[in-house]
Amino acid sequence: MYPSFARMAEQHQRCFFRHMSCTSNRRRAMRSSFPVLHLPLQAIHQHVYEANLRNSTACHNKYTELRKKLTKGGGDNAIARHTQRNKKLLVRDRLSLLLDDEDFLELSPFAGLGLPYGDIPSAGCLTGVGKINGLWCVFIANDATIKGGTAYPITVKKQLRAQEVAIQNRLPCVYLVDSGGAFLPLQSEIFPDKNQGGRTFYNEAIMSAMKIPQVSVVCGSCTAGGAYIPTMAEEAVMVHRIGTMFLGGPPLVKAATGEEVTPEDLGGARLHAEVSGCVDHFAWEEKEAFEYTRNIISTLNFTLPEEEDDEEKTKRKKEEEKPLYSSEELLGLAPRSYNHSLDVKMVISRLTDGSRFQEFKACFGTTLITGFAKIHGHLVGIVANNGQLSYKSALKGSHFVQLCDQRDVPLLFLQNTAPSAALTLSSTQAEMNSNCLKAQGSMMSAVACASVPKITVVIGGCHGADSYAMCGRSFDPNFLFVWPNARVSLAAAGHVGALLHCHSDQEEERRNMENHLNRTFEEESSAFFSSGRLWDDGVILPQDTRRVLGDCLNIIQQQQYQLSTEKPRSPLLRI
Ligand code: COA
Repeated sequence: MYPSFARMAEQHQRCFFRHMSCTSNRRRAMRSSFPVLHLPLQAIHQHVYEANLRNSTACHNKYTELRKKLTKGGGDNAIARHTQRNKKLLVRDRLSLLLDDEDFLELSPFAGLGLPYGDIPSAGCLTGVGKINGLWCVFIANDATIKGGTAYPITVKKQLRAQEVAIQNRLPCVYLVDSGGAFLPLQSEIFPDKNQGGRTFYNEAIMSAMKIPQVSVVCGSCTAGGAYIPTMAEEAVMVHRIGTMFLGGPPLVKAATGEEVTPEDLGGARLHAEVSGCVDHFAWEEKEAFEYTRNIISTLNFTLPEEEDDEEKTKRKKEEEKPLYSSEELLGLAPRSYNHSLDVKMVISRLTDGSRFQEFKACFGTTLITGFAKIHGHLVGIVANNGQLSYKSALKGSHFVQLCDQRDVPLLFLQNTAPSAALTLSSTQAEMNSNCLKAQGSMMSAVACASVPKITVVIGGCHGADSYAMCGRSFDPNFLFVWPNARVSLAAAGHVGALLHCHSDQEEERRNMENHLNRTFEEESSAFFSSGRLWDDGVILPQDTRRVLGDCLNIIQQQQYQLSTEKPRSPLLRI
């Protein structure tokens, strides 16, 4: 049986793919001349804009500081041990040998920071989507400078999310394995549950049955659970004197039998390529292993669109309109709080080609903005919060989402939800709230069941049930990113009073409790707190959003070039 999410992703993506595959490889987008949003900054915005800008600068500094911390991996000593004693390449150097260029979409780089069990830089493994011989592939690469590449709970979560990205977008997946297996002190949080260690292997089988190719490179230790990753991959490459693969290493053998054995004899590349057959390609050095891997990707039988020559590329770039306004202005539009939100159409006009936007239902439910636009030439349906998700705006949201689903247009949600739900203070209010509840429920259903790809960017608040209707993480968007100013919590800090059920008659006790909760909400709602726990696919800078969206839309589109997506069959079995 398929896991339900995999089956649903498969069905959904199949619908989308069926439509896309009917068209020829060399598609030409329909011409459009959507109206231009003329929304320059006005003097009236200056006060809010400047406050936002100051906040964005502080967020940007934090972003840069954390990124710097991440590049050090497990620290100088661990790097020296890895490169000098173990003679291995660093994970980013490996990626530069594997991928076409260094420009790849890294997923959740801040995952693992600020966890109860410490800071685990990049959660101990790099994941993302990059091109290999022109084909977008997911990669999952252990960083062995962080505790020998062992898997913490967050590492497992990050690996599973990367596999999910591969499943949802039907992308080949390459694993660079260099891991000492489970991080033993936290074994109870890694081993037994459904979405823990074993799920990686379960997914590998399911992905193979779905015809999602997987290739593994053993470029370090592959101990215990780690050993199943290459063994279950469809093709595996192993590096001589660098890669080892066994269920229990030499120390374990010594303890059990007293026998001294070298890692190479117990589970080196020669043994697995010549005797066990656990790997298919023997490489003398890492560089050669990555060449093999790139060649393996070339055998996947994808037919990519014809490459543009320089003249065509220049022509296309010329035709593709840039937004009228600088993307840097997004820094002043990124709200430092809900009260600092400016008209979301100003954000849209700084993201879309030519700042063009074909608005849908402009006069109805105006606290939600819906309409069509192009981003780097890709047609998208945009759903953007512009105030409370009211009864009318939720109805409009459902209508528009279903419209995009009918037309196979990918959806982009720009999320900035209200800090807390509306209170029920009178019978009229109660009726309004009930209607709103009904409409929001319908919008959630429309979003959940839309078979088109969805991308969500949290540009401000991600609070309460409104965030579900705006395709939050639990509604399975293909990609979800947050801006550094984003606040992610059930209700915004400062709004928890209404949620509090304090049975004490003491006003002071109630106030203390409320203050304490507000502080907790404040601490726990930062974008970096969220990303550290992998509630998103990464913090992206506002000014990079258009580029990231362009990459995501290209990645999503690749499935139309896959030759065969016929019904699932059994996974490939290594004999
Ligand atoms: N759990 C927790 N910590 C582990 C670990 C594990 N499974 N394996 C290694 N570490 C830690 C080490 O204690 C060391 O920590 P330190 O830097 O604080 O001293 C760090 O990871 C690096 O390990 P080290 O052995 O010094 O580096 P190495 O490059 O020589 O070897 C391994 C790395 C992974 C090959 C080796 O540590 C090893 O074989 N570990 C045991 C693997 C194992 O049996 N796993 C079973 C999991 S079910």
